[in-house]
Amino acid sequence: MTEELLLGQTLEFTGDPFLEGPEAARHDTRGAVLIRDGKIADIGPASRLRADHPHATVTDYGDKLISPGFVDAHVHYPQTGIIASWGKRLIDWLNSYTFPEEMRFDDPDYARDVAGRYLDLTLANGTTTVASYCTIYPASVDAFFEAAETRGLRALAGKTCMDRNAPDGLCDTPQSAYDDSKALLQKWHGIGRLSYVITPRFSPTSTPEQLAALGALWAEHPDCLMQTHLSEQTDEIAWVKSLFPTARDYLDTYEAFGLLGKNGLYGHAIHLEPREIDRLNEVGAALVHCPTSNTFIGSGLFDMGLAKSTVRVGLATDTGGGSNFSMLRTMAAAYEVAQLRGQALHPAQLIWLATEGSAQALGLNDKLGKLAIGHEADLVIIDLESTPAIAQRSVRADTIWEALFPTIMMGDDRAISEVRVAGRVVSL
Ligand code: GUN
Ligand code: ZN
Repeated sequence: MTEELLLGQTLEFTGDPFLEGPEAARHDTRGAVLIRDGKIADIGPASRLRADHPHATVTDYGDKLISPGFVDAHVHYPQTGIIASWGKRLIDWLNSYTFPEEMRFDDPDYARDVAGRYLDLTLANGTTTVASYCTIYPASVDAFFEAAETRGLRALAGKTCMDRNAPDGLCDTPQSAYDDSKALLQKWHGIGRLSYVITPRFSPTSTPEQLAALGALWAEHPDCLMQTHLSEQTDEIAWVKSLFPTARDYLDTYEAFGLLGKNGLYGHAIHLEPREIDRLNEVGAALVHCPTSNTFIGSGLFDMGLAKSTVRVGLATDTGGGSNFSMLRTMAAAYEVAQLRGQALHPAQLIWLATEGSAQALGLNDKLGKLAIGHEADLVIIDLESTPAIAQRSVRADTIWEALFPTIMMGDDRAISEVRVAGRVVSL
């Protein structure tokens, strides 16, 4: 049995820093993580682990931080090629850039090319698990899962369903959305490290019949996650109200068709009404904060105060409405957005959101997202002095939080020294 002992700085979360503050984390300047069979087999001070596991191969990362790999809870891998497209707000952005690009995924070779490129970019940024929307084409789901499987990644994805308000070539029907989603679910869900996610894009692009069909599919497979968008822009909300005149609010357009539940993941969720917040709390649903997207497309400022309630909050790039592939840049944006709402997020909260918080939102926190015995060894080694600008700031640090915060605010893929998937080093 081969064992590998990684030495470096470590952070172990014993609680939720939104509820307990930074005391929820235990820091070791000289910590260690033992990997055995792709999992974390021990964690603690380097001195103890060296004594307890004398035969393990040792890899010493010095002052670098050994962290769980980042978990990106909401992305659109098919939008990789149109990231950073200029000048539009949500609905125009979808019609001008997104839908024409997603039509290209009709070609399975193109889908395979983008899926591989996307996962290599995210790995280079330290992200080891994503939950992705695909396109309406089932082959785009196969392409994504095959690319994730080749790389050994734990990954989640689903066929994006739309049967109205999109180009003809990009529309399915209530029946075909149900049939295709079910066939993909049966093909991929629970295979190795892969999970299928039922994926109605958002209420404006689904008829009530399609929402009901996908609600029925979810009722048949309640262990699956269901992902969609909620209350991202005010124009979008007004449009939803006109399309669903009897709905109490945006969330009701999902609830009425069986698409509200504990395993529901609601992206953006910025302009929520009090009833919506109450219902999301009652069911214990998960919200996904996409701060670079919300500023880039001009959507608004998510309320991080929600992380103190019973909804779970994950963090996400929302590539390509989001403007990059990096969860470090996304943490920086989360910090800035919270500042604009008068909230100062602690570095402990930011790094937790990008790892355990997102894993919790995806219902995977018993498997990954934290340095804990038994968890899958998807890890990122973070250089806290990756550029001269960051190094000259972190050199003054007295605490791990002061040392980490400059990398959160100014870091990018240069801060990612090494990535491990199920214990194995990935070539970046
Ligand atoms: N709402 C519906 N579809 C999308 C999408 O692709 N990106 C974003 N940001 N919002 C959406
Ligand atoms: Zn999205």
